[in-house]
Amino acid sequence: MSIWGELAKNQRFAEGRHILDLFSADDARASDFSVHLNDMVLDYSKTNIDRGARDLLVQLAQDRGVEGRRAAMFGGERINETEGRAVLHVAQRAGDDAVITVDGADVMPQLRDIRARACAFAEDVRQGRFLGQGGAITDVVNIGIGGSDLGPAMATLALAPWHDGPRVHYVSNVDGAHIADTLKGLNPETTLVIVASKTFTTIETMTNARTARDWMAARVSDPAAQFAAVSTAQDKTAAFGIASERVFGFEDWVGGRYSMWGPIGLGLMLAIGAQNFDDMLRGARDMDQHFCDAPLDRNMPVVLALVGLWHNQICGHATRAVLPYDQRLARLPAYLQQLEMESNGKRVDMAGRDLDRQSGPVVWGEPGTNGQHAFYQLIHQGTRIVPCEFLVAARGHEPHLAHQHKLLVANCLAQSEALLRGRTLDEARASMADKGLEGAELDRQARHRVFPGNRPSTTLVYPQLTPFVLGQIIALYEHRVFVEGVVLGINSFDQWGVELGKELAVALAPLLDGDGEAAASKDPSTRGLLEYMRARQAE
Ligand code: F6P
Repeated sequence: MSIWGELAKNQRFAEGRHILDLFSADDARASDFSVHLNDMVLDYSKTNIDRGARDLLVQLAQDRGVEGRRAAMFGGERINETEGRAVLHVAQRAGDDAVITVDGADVMPQLRDIRARACAFAEDVRQGRFLGQGGAITDVVNIGIGGSDLGPAMATLALAPWHDGPRVHYVSNVDGAHIADTLKGLNPETTLVIVASKTFTTIETMTNARTARDWMAARVSDPAAQFAAVSTAQDKTAAFGIASERVFGFEDWVGGRYSMWGPIGLGLMLAIGAQNFDDMLRGARDMDQHFCDAPLDRNMPVVLALVGLWHNQICGHATRAVLPYDQRLARLPAYLQQLEMESNGKRVDMAGRDLDRQSGPVVWGEPGTNGQHAFYQLIHQGTRIVPCEFLVAARGHEPHLAHQHKLLVANCLAQSEALLRGRTLDEARASMADKGLEGAELDRQARHRVFPGNRPSTTLVYPQLTPFVLGQIIALYEHRVFVEGVVLGINSFDQWGVELGKELAVALAPLLDGDGEAAASKDPSTRGLLEYMRARQAE
C-alpha cells in the first residue's frame, strides 16, 4: 500500500476516535506532540494525529524529498522550474559571513550592499538628514500590491511598539478611494513616496504612483526628489524619473510574496529603524537554521506542514483558520492568504500533470477575540470541520493593561479547549437546570447547546511579539508552505493563475468607454454588466 493509502487507512480509524482518547491513552502526549524552538512552542497535540500517523507523515516528507529540495533551495538551485529561477529569499536574511551562490557566483556581497544602502537611507530619513521640500519627512506612502504590500504592511502593524519613525501608510488597491483617502490630510512637502514593485509594471501600482506624483507636483517643485523605488527593473524606475540613489534593487530569485526581508521592507525600516529590522532578520535566520538542522519530527515548519497536509489532503478539510490572539497581527491572515494560496493553489505538478489530490487549503482568519463574536459559531457547531491555528504571546506590550492580556490569553486557550472537549447532551441539560424545563422540551432546547468537540487545532505560543519573534513566525510559515508544496509535487514559486484576469482587465478597460459593438465577443453576462456600467457612468 502507498504511504498515502496507509495514511488514509489511519485517518479512517481516527475518524471513530475522540482526540481526548489520545490524551487518556498517553500521559506524555501534550509534550510529545509539541515542538520547541528557543522559547517558542508549537503544540499540535489537539489534533487527531497519533504516533503512527506522525511516523507515516514524516516518512511521506522523506519519500517526497523534502530534505533534498530544502538543500537545493538553500544551495541556490533553480527550483522554480517554470520560471527558471533560484528561490533565495533566505539569502536576504542570511548572516554577515554567509556565502550563497547562484550559478557559481556569490550573491551575498550585492545583497549586503543593497541592505546597507536601504538601511542608510531609512536612517537618513528618520534622523532628518534626508528632507522633504517642506522639512523633515513626517509621512511615508508605500505604493505596492500583493507581495510588495502585504508583508511590510502586516509587519508595520505587528511591530507598532517599535514604531518611532515617520507615519507609514500603505496604498495597494487601484480603487482611487484607497489613495485618495490616504493622501487626504498629508502634506506633500513632507511626504516620501515609495513605489514598491518587483516588476514595475503592475497596473495598480503604476496607476497609484502616477496619481501620487500628480498630487505632489501640485505643491512641490521637484516631486521626483521625494520618490524612492524598490524594484528588480531599474530601467523602468529610471524611466519613471526616480534617481538611482533612491532606487533599491533585488533579484528575480526573490519571489514577491517572500520579499519583505529586503528593500521591499523599506517602509517597515523607516517605521522601526534599521536595528529593529535587523532583529527581525535574525529571528527569520534562527528559524532557517532550525529548519535546516532539526530532525523532521522535531522540525517546526515540517511539523506544521505535516499537520496541514493531514487536515487538508488526508482528512479533506478544505479550509484552515489562522486565529492570532494579537490585534497587531490583524493583517497576518491576509498576508498568509497570499503566501499560502498563491504558492500552493496549483492544479498541476512540476511536470505539468494533474494533481492526484487537493492543492493547498483556503486560508482565512481574523484576530481573536473579535472572531469569537462573528464566525466561531460555525467553527464550534457548524457541520464542516475547520482546523484552527491559534497564535498567542505570553506577554503583551502594555504593562498597565496586563489584566487585559490575561483575558486575551484565557480566551485563546478556552477556544482550543472548547473545540477539543465540546459539550455533551447531558452537560447541556445540566447547564439548563435553572430554566425549569423537563422531558422533550428540555432535550429540544439542550440539543442546541451541544458542542460536538473533537475539533482539531494547533497553538503557537511565544514570550512576546518582538521583531525577532515576528521574523521567526513569518519564516516558519514560509518554510511550511515550501514543505507542503514539495510533498504535493507542485512549484510553490510561480503564480500563473493571476495572469488571465490581468490580461482580460486590460482588454476590458477600453470597452467601458467604447460602443456596444466592441463588446460583442464577450459572453452575455459580461456584455450585460458592461452595458449597465456604461449607461450609469454616462449619467
Ligand atoms: O499578481 C500577482 C503578483 O504578481 C504577486 O505575485 C506580486 O506579489 C504582486 O502581483 C505585485 O507584483 P509587483 O511587485 O511586481 O508589482
